[in-house]
Amino acid sequence: MNNFTFANPTKILFGKGQVENTGKETAAIGKRVLLLSGGASSRKSGLIGNISRQLQGSGVHFVEQSGVSPNPEIGEVRKGANTCKSEKLDAVLAVGGGSVVDAAKAIAAGACYGGDPWDFFGKKTSPENALPIGVVLTLSATGSEANGNSVVSNAATNEKRPMYSPLYYPKFSILDPELTYTVPKDQTAYGSIDILSHVYEQYFHRAQNSPIQDGLAETLMRTVIENAPIAIENPADYDARANLMWASTMALNGILSCGTGGDWSSHMIGHELSANYGIAHGAALAVIFPAWMKHVHTANPRRFRRFAGKVWMINTAGMNDAQAADAAIGAMEDFYTNKLKTSVRMKDYGIDGAKLELMTASAVKFRQLGVFKPLTREDILEIYRLAM
Ligand code: NZQ
Ligand code: ZN
Repeated sequence: MNNFTFANPTKILFGKGQVENTGKETAAIGKRVLLLSGGASSRKSGLIGNISRQLQGSGVHFVEQSGVSPNPEIGEVRKGANTCKSEKLDAVLAVGGGSVVDAAKAIAAGACYGGDPWDFFGKKTSPENALPIGVVLTLSATGSEANGNSVVSNAATNEKRPMYSPLYYPKFSILDPELTYTVPKDQTAYGSIDILSHVYEQYFHRAQNSPIQDGLAETLMRTVIENAPIAIENPADYDARANLMWASTMALNGILSCGTGGDWSSHMIGHELSANYGIAHGAALAVIFPAWMKHVHTANPRRFRRFAGKVWMINTAGMNDAQAADAAIGAMEDFYTNKLKTSVRMKDYGIDGAKLELMTASAVKFRQLGVFKPLTREDILEIYRLAM
């Protein structure tokens, strides 16, 4: 096990009815709040109405900004940061999925910064200060509810860039699984694939003797594989929704990579598909991860044999390493296609080979990719080709 430092300051309020604590928790972090939400879902469900009443009851003044888009845009961040400045707001409350939470983080830092918030994503500078952030999560997927990451797109430059700041950890996150009952089938599938992909990014490591990390990862993957089809079939199954929600947080709150690290090249390669073709994050991962696995499994065949046996419950006795890896990747593709009804091919999203070189160059703009297997540009091109 490698040395590590772990700190996660986010207070989690998990379970049925926890949404009723939003007013009280928000009042503890600010008196003048930006209430940030996505398209229509949280208004339609009555959630924004409920939260507005709670904020009023708790003496919190608030200004609303709705319409944060999936794959949030830098323009939405600029708008929120400007509102925080002009209205002298002192906290941001995000109500929504990962896109709203990520936008809230960038707004919170942008509100304390004199320049353009895109500077954070373009690696020009790092935030030195940020307003406190609170979260009411409505979709289980990204882990943004308890981590320091924010991912924002810039349509003007066809970029989608992640950044991390310790200032971005929410002060509190309300994880009330009943708020996810209205998540449609496709978004439930994409969210579940995102959770699995976060675990893959950390499970496929090169560290030795890591039974705690490996066991945690395998439990998380099995939990998602068992519960996602139940939530898709019966959206109001409390236990399925609760297990997915906790899996979302556990997969990317930092605990899974303690002592083992992470790879994250599939995320960077997948972000290019969202930046250039606007596809959902989970959809991008559904096509890229199988291709990445096909390309890299020889770097550590024993890990893929273990993945086949412990995660996909395949009896690998009598199989050679390549056959065991093939069987695991095949089981995963079959699960995505037949249980989650999600394509594992780029062409099904109308993506052809026209931009492969451009996307490859953009994916490595800030750093070389690959820890499990260092990737050259030719490797990345081959992963895109395998995903076609
Ligand atoms: O906009 P509304 O109307 O709210 O609809 C949203 C959106 O269309 C809908 N939705 C959310 N909660 C709902 C609901 N519909 C009905 N009922 C509910 N309760 O779902 C759609 C997708 O929402 P979005 O927030 O975009 O999804 P997700 O949570 O998957 O977030 C995706 C974004 O997070 C980034 C992704 O790249 C992407 O931009 N990520 C953030 C990470 C992080 N901060 O750590 C890590 C991830 O790897 C990821 O990159
Ligand atoms: Zn992700």
